[in-house]
Amino acid sequence: MRIKIAAGNWKMNTTLEEGRRLINAITEGLLNNPSPLSPNELQVVFGVPFITLESAVDMTKEHKQIKIAAQNCCSEEKGAFTGEVSAAMIRSTGAQCVIIGHSERREYFNESHAMLAKKVDVALKNNLIPIFCCGEKLEIRHKNDHFDLVKKQIEESLFHLNPDLFAHVVIAYEPVWAIGTGVTATPQQAQEMHNVIRNFINKRYGNSISNSTTILYGGSVNAGNAGELFSQPDVDGGLIGGASLKADEFLKIIHSF
Ligand code: 13P
Repeated sequence: MRIKIAAGNWKMNTTLEEGRRLINAITEGLLNNPSPLSPNELQVVFGVPFITLESAVDMTKEHKQIKIAAQNCCSEEKGAFTGEVSAAMIRSTGAQCVIIGHSERREYFNESHAMLAKKVDVALKNNLIPIFCCGEKLEIRHKNDHFDLVKKQIEESLFHLNPDLFAHVVIAYEPVWAIGTGVTATPQQAQEMHNVIRNFINKRYGNSISNSTTILYGGSVNAGNAGELFSQPDVDGGLIGGASLKADEFLKIIHSF
């Protein structure tokens, strides 16, 4: 069966010291009260700022359930791109994953489908698991175009991959209207979209891959709503923003599987 994931996206929060404290608090909490699920069943991911990657890897290396993610990588491999961070650099810290195509990056940094396809390629080439984000704005949902939009996001940036490479990808459905708003998609809305995504993957890659692709839900997940969201048949966990910055809250979310 596919692996479940509780992933935190810290966004542009936490200094190095604050990040270390947060990691300490969550790892201590997990050691004192482990999840009943094994690391083969449930993975916990910290999506930390670049400056925290190396410390985060170091602090969690004994903990088989925890993986570290960057929140972005450059679409180019290396060279004269001042201020950018490459997939190879991220991998060299020991981080295993990278969030790609978050709606904030699409919106504020004009990331296109084509650019995201390149980011996915460069991540996979460097042995990073892409956590690929998709999701619609409210006006698209109101026009009932949300399924087509999400399919297009996935098709344009992921479906060029061969099956062996696609099998490494994690998808995060994050409706933009639910991000940071306190308005969560209902479990039924999440399940409906996740099912559409899984069927779409099935058409392109077949049963085995579609059944083993982890599809996360993101958007105002908290300790109170995580259990019901994660119990939907096609919702394999969450990509969590605000609530991942509070150790107690994130631990409760980890325990809601
Ligand atoms: P919130 O959980 O703060 O709504 O953020 C979701 C998100 O953007 C995770 O990537």
